[in-house]
Amino acid sequence: MLGAPAIRARKRRHGAAPLVMVTAYDEPGARYVAAAGVDLILVGDSLANVVLGHENTLHVTIDDMCHHVRAVAAARCDVHVVADMPWLSYHLSIDESVRNAAALIRSGAHSVKLEGGQARRDVVRALFAAEIPVMGHLGLTPQSVMKFGGFKVQARTHEAAKLLLEDAAVLQDEGAFAIVIEGVPSVVGQHVTDVIDIPTIGIGAGPDTDGQVLVFHDLLGLTDRTPAKFVRQYADLGAQITEAVGHFATDVRSGDFPSRDEAYASPDGLFD
Ligand code: KIV
Repeated sequence: MLGAPAIRARKRRHGAAPLVMVTAYDEPGARYVAAAGVDLILVGDSLANVVLGHENTLHVTIDDMCHHVRAVAAARCDVHVVADMPWLSYHLSIDESVRNAAALIRSGAHSVKLEGGQARRDVVRALFAAEIPVMGHLGLTPQSVMKFGGFKVQARTHEAAKLLLEDAAVLQDEGAFAIVIEGVPSVVGQHVTDVIDIPTIGIGAGPDTDGQVLVFHDLLGLTDRTPAKFVRQYADLGAQITEAVGHFATDVRSGDFPSRDEAYASPDGLFD
């Protein structure tokens, strides 16, 4: 398993292979993703959208996240597990932020991820001081959807791109071991990656970041949402599930399921 220091060292400009991160929310998901050889599993607060059916990520709590981190950890799959700190779990006080991050670690995560840069400086510092590895998340940070007025590409002006760079530098200075960069022009993803010394993991941030992350359900075709421009769908499992369950229903209704071979034999003389 890659620990935070090993991940921190994974800069492509030093010859490292790109980091691969995929989300998972339960034991089977973690097992399948780990078997594919990913570097990191993210128990994302996208849990809210893709598993629990909410409009945005503001609807999951620290208890929800811990519940799903425990399910992922139950896969015991020797892959670094990052857990998202949900909205309001690190906004109210430093003490509460550390306690919430610790709850995620005790549920089985190896590090936590939180959104924001300079505004989170004190929290990142306190988590680092409490020995909890922190991954940052900048750009189109989904917990800011209401402030942004929707899911909109960020850092599209010189000033905004400069602020994002400053945020990345703060996260690095306070001890973050990597940063997710989401929903920004490719040139911004490239520039942040060039300027900072910890790895960037992109999602809709172009091809030049130090790694890439996708959401399990997007990658596998398990969602009915219109995919974002940056999603590449590698399978259509949703359609396969519907087809398979449809076959089951047909077989039950026609009497074809179960067959004798799929039933337990009757002991001799049971109803004599
Ligand atoms: O919650 C999530 O899935 C994420 C990824 C989009 C990076 O934060």
